[in-house]
Amino acid sequence: MEKERDGNGEGVPLLVENKQILFKGYINGIPKETDMELKAGGKIELRVANGSSRILVKNLYLSCDPFMRGRMIFSRASYIPPFVPGSVIEGFGVSRVIDSDDPDFRPGDLVVGLTGWEEYSFIRKDQQLRKIQHHDIPLSYHVGLLGMPGFTAYAGFYEVCSPQKGDYVFVSAASGAVGQLVGQLAKLHGCYVVGSAGSSKKVDILKNTLGFDDAFNYKEETDLNAALKRCFPSGIDIYFDNVGGAMLDAALLEMRVNGRIAICGMVSQQDLSNPDGIRNMFCLISKRIKMQGFLQSDYLHLFPQFVKDMVSYYQQKKIVYIEDMNEGLESAPAALVGLFTGKNIGKQVILVSHE
Ligand SMILES: NC(=O)c1ccc[n+]([C@@H]2O[C@H](COP(=O)([O-])OP(=O)(O)OC[C@H]3O[C@@H](n4cnc5c(N)ncnc54)[C@H](OP(=O)(O)O)[C@@H]3O)[C@@H](O)[C@H]2O)c1
Repeated sequence: MEKERDGNGEGVPLLVENKQILFKGYINGIPKETDMELKAGGKIELRVANGSSRILVKNLYLSCDPFMRGRMIFSRASYIPPFVPGSVIEGFGVSRVIDSDDPDFRPGDLVVGLTGWEEYSFIRKDQQLRKIQHHDIPLSYHVGLLGMPGFTAYAGFYEVCSPQKGDYVFVSAASGAVGQLVGQLAKLHGCYVVGSAGSSKKVDILKNTLGFDDAFNYKEETDLNAALKRCFPSGIDIYFDNVGGAMLDAALLEMRVNGRIAICGMVSQQDLSNPDGIRNMFCLISKRIKMQGFLQSDYLHLFPQFVKDMVSYYQQKKIVYIEDMNEGLESAPAALVGLFTGKNIGKQVILVSHE
């Protein structure tokens, strides 16, 4: 960090270099590290102008989330605008307020919201900014357990899956940011829970750390229906689908009458402009299945209750949360790419700065 003394002689750093990760240009398929670039960034002044309503933050933790791929693709009808080539990548992060022209946010406040993949960002309150209230929870968990992925698990499971005690629940991408919590919430609800994941290490974590009743490595299964039949001899009541594609097609055949399928994500669809077809849709009729896509943002009225419940579960040690932490802003592009090859074990986070 380059320092320049201000007039008061206290050595306050006013001008700093701001390392940034830029988005280079629109992609097809899954992102590559070369779709992003680390730039030294120009010098910025560590204060906001009066009347700007802006908040200057130092970014501490950044979140890698699969939805960010959607922002790298131009031509898709999406629920969120695409990134602009040449601009800083935007994502959820935990940050500390350095200076602010918004009376609701003061220097020193810890906040979570949409920020830039850079050391310092100028943001606004309307970037889903919230002050962090629970200082007894690890800071990075505010983009996971208590953030968007945690809320996705909570809203998707309780609001979309209509769970009943004793239900047979299947979760794909089960060791990830969302899946690990869906499985644990289902266990707390009295369900029988099986997860799929892409390595034996992840399967071991599901069974021995996260408390799933069973788990399988989908990459080692030659027949997904046989795997599901083995784990659910009498069928599935709830499928929480994080992946789409072949797993969704297989699960449709193994559903029970009146089953529910929550369509949360399609991470297996590597080329979203040419997705796999789903052949077993007739099961929706014969088994009277309800299949519903959802966005966590449709349920934000439940956010306060979600935070209360999750904090309580975590403090009572009823829920554990697994993170995959990469260190340094420069590690962020590889970490984001890794989501699409299954490199991450748990919620993928980037540590940018401890302070
Ligand atoms: N609807 C919403 O509001 C909402 C909100 C947040 C997230 N989501 C969706 O929820 C899903 C999970 O998100 P997350 O944040 O929890 O990510 P995550 O599971 O932490 O990371 C992505 C995981 O997807 C799996 N994966 C990657 N490529 C795959 C493939 N070809 N086939 C099957 N699995 C593959 C990998 O695990 P394996 O090693 O197990 O393959 C990888 O670790 C994503 O689809 C995401 O888009 C939806």
